[in-house]
Amino acid sequence: MVCSGCCCGNLDKGHDDVPVDELMEAWNKNNLQGSVELTISGCLGPCSMRNVVLLKTDQSLIWLGGLSSDSHYDAVVEWAVDFSQRGNGCEMPDILNSHIFTPNKSVETRL
Ligand code: FES
Repeated sequence: MVCSGCCCGNLDKGHDDVPVDELMEAWNKNNLQGSVELTISGCLGPCSMRNVVLLKTDQSLIWLGGLSSDSHYDAVVEWAVDFSQRGNGCEMPDILNSHIFTPNKSVETRL
């Protein structure tokens, strides 16, 4: 789930772009539609962590925040490709490890 809500990707608020079109193209190019669902969402809750991505699997919720460059979103695609091939055994790309955060409980109960 890639947040493109009120804050994430809102250039008018001085935040970094969320490359929605590029992500959708990457999903098509890598034939991910049948195995990893890409959702461009409204606000997920933890706006202060913009730009936010939630990697939601049957075993975990991994929150990423502070994504600010194409390389971050390229790494999200890389994770999705790896997940489509290896499931929960996939690895988090190094560039994203420092962006993992834990939201407060009220955010997770909204999902
Ligand atoms: S707008 Fe992205 S978390 Fe609120």
